[in-house]
Amino acid sequence: MGLIIQAQPFFALNPGNVTANQITIKIAQTTTPSLRTLAAERGIKIGTAVRDLPLKNEPNYQKTLAEQFNIITPENVMKFEPLRPTPDSYNFEKADEMVAFASRNKMNLRGHVLVWHNQLPKWLKEKKLSRDEAISILRDHIYKVVGHYRGQIMAWDVVNEAMADDGRLRNTIWLQTIGPEYIEMAFRWAHEADPDAKLFYNDYGGEGRGRKSDAIYRLVEQLLLKKVPIDGVGLQMHVGLNYTPRPQEIANNMLRLSELGLEVHITEMDVKIQDGYGTRKERLVAQANIYRQMLQVCLKASNCKAFVMWGFTDAHSWIPQFTNRPDAALIFDENYQPKPAFYALVELLRQPVEVR
Ligand code: XIL
Repeated sequence: MGLIIQAQPFFALNPGNVTANQITIKIAQTTTPSLRTLAAERGIKIGTAVRDLPLKNEPNYQKTLAEQFNIITPENVMKFEPLRPTPDSYNFEKADEMVAFASRNKMNLRGHVLVWHNQLPKWLKEKKLSRDEAISILRDHIYKVVGHYRGQIMAWDVVNEAMADDGRLRNTIWLQTIGPEYIEMAFRWAHEADPDAKLFYNDYGGEGRGRKSDAIYRLVEQLLLKKVPIDGVGLQMHVGLNYTPRPQEIANNMLRLSELGLEVHITEMDVKIQDGYGTRKERLVAQANIYRQMLQVCLKASNCKAFVMWGFTDAHSWIPQFTNRPDAALIFDENYQPKPAFYALVELLRQPVEVR
C-alpha cells in the first residue's frame, strides 16, 4: 500500500510526528521563510492594515501578523473620529497599543490618516466653521498627532482621497472651509511635526492610467513645484476579479511618479471575488493571480517600496460590510489558513530576481 505525500508548502504542516500505516514521518520544523523575510530580501516592506479588537482578543491574529508582516497600518484607530472624542481632547490609547505592538515585533508603521472626509467626529461635522477656525483645527490636529508619534512612523498618509473620480478636487469639508490650499498646508504641518516621516498622498482608482491618476499626477507635480514636502503616492488598490487595472498601466504610472522623484506604496490592497465567475476554487486561483501580478509590478518598479494589504484574514475584512455581500478578499481565510493568494506571493518573492 502506497503512501502519497503531496508536495505542500511545509509550514502548512505542523511540526511533529505523523504516523500512517506504521510509517512514521518526521515533519521538520518550518523552514519556509515568511512573507516578511522574503520581502526584506527583495528590499520592500510587506504589510497589512490592523484592527484593534482582534489584535487584543485573538492569539491567531497576533501570531500570523507578527510572523508574516513587517509593516502595519492602523485600519481605524488613527483616524480623526477615534482620536478626537471632543474638540479639546485626544485619545491615543488604542493607537499607542498598536504602535507598541509594531515596535515589539520590529515592524514599521504607516500612519493613516491625517486629512480625510470620512470618519470625522460629530462635533466637527456639525460645527459651522470659519476658514480660520478650520485651519486652526486641522493644524492643531496634525501637529499634535504627528508630534505624538514623532520618530515612530515610517510614512504618513497625510491627505486621503482628495480627488474626485472626474479629476476635480473632491468637495469635502476641508475644501469648503479652507479651499484647495488645505492640501499643501497639511503636508507642511506634518513635515514640521516629524521631519523624518515620509509624507504620502493616498487615493483609490488612480492606480492605472486615466483621468483620476492623471489628476493625481498633476496635483503632486504642482505640490513639488511649490516645494511642498511630499515623498510619495499611495495606490490603495481595492480591486476585484472583474476590475483590476492592467499591470502595464500601473507600471507606467509608477514610472512617471518615479521621474518626479516620488516613491509609491501599494497601501490597501484587497481583491473582491463576489463579482467573479466560476467555482469558489477557481475564483481563489484568479484572485491569487491578481495579487501576484500586483506584487510583481511593485517589485519591478524601482520606487515601489511597500506592498500593504487592507487586512490579512477574511475573518476581518471591511469588504463584506462595505459591499453588503459576503466575500473573501484577503490572503488568509477565516481560520487563518493561507489561501492560494498567499502561496502566490510567497512563490513570487522566492523567485530569483532575474526571472521575475
Ligand atoms: C475603512 C475601514 O476598513 C473600515 O473598517 C471603516 O469602517 C471604514 O474605513 N479607504 C481608506 C480606508 O483610506 O481608511 C478605508 O478603511 C477604506 C477605504
